[in-house]
Amino acid sequence: MSETIIQPLTELTPAYRALVESASAATKTAYAPYSRFHVGATLLFADGSSHSGANFENVSYGLSLCAETVAMASASAAGRLKGLVAIAIAAEGELAAAITGEFIAPCGRCRQVLAEAVSICGHDIEVLMLSRDGLRVRSTTARALLPLAFGL
Ligand code: THU
Repeated sequence: MSETIIQPLTELTPAYRALVESASAATKTAYAPYSRFHVGATLLFADGSSHSGANFENVSYGLSLCAETVAMASASAAGRLKGLVAIAIAAEGELAAAITGEFIAPCGRCRQVLAEAVSICGHDIEVLMLSRDGLRVRSTTARALLPLAFGL
């Protein structure tokens, strides 16, 4: 695939559309009483299975965990990070209006966690970011999101 591509959600393949919709659904499981910004992330594996996570905040704000990291760490703990082919990210909440940029992009820390997943899997991972209005998806890869990553 090219380095980044933007498409209407309705033009994705059925599997990728379901992946993005699953990330949207995962926003409902966020624990985000402090930011009120609910983020969901769903991982897609080569066998067609998936695994979701959501952000998990803490009253000590800096301890909060992002949805992408929760999804990857819990998948790893379940022994299933190998075979990861894609991750979709979606968000909803009051903070969404304050965020610059149309698409919900992974933070820098999550990009480094994604870089580790690339190492574990031995291949690049597609990253699908839903727009704040939920209508469009920007697709890129973990490697493109973190050039010159430490350890890669
Ligand atoms: N957040 C994520 O879950 N993923 C990101 O890539 C960026 C930010 C969460 C962390 C925090 O709970 C809330 O969004 C506001 O920053």
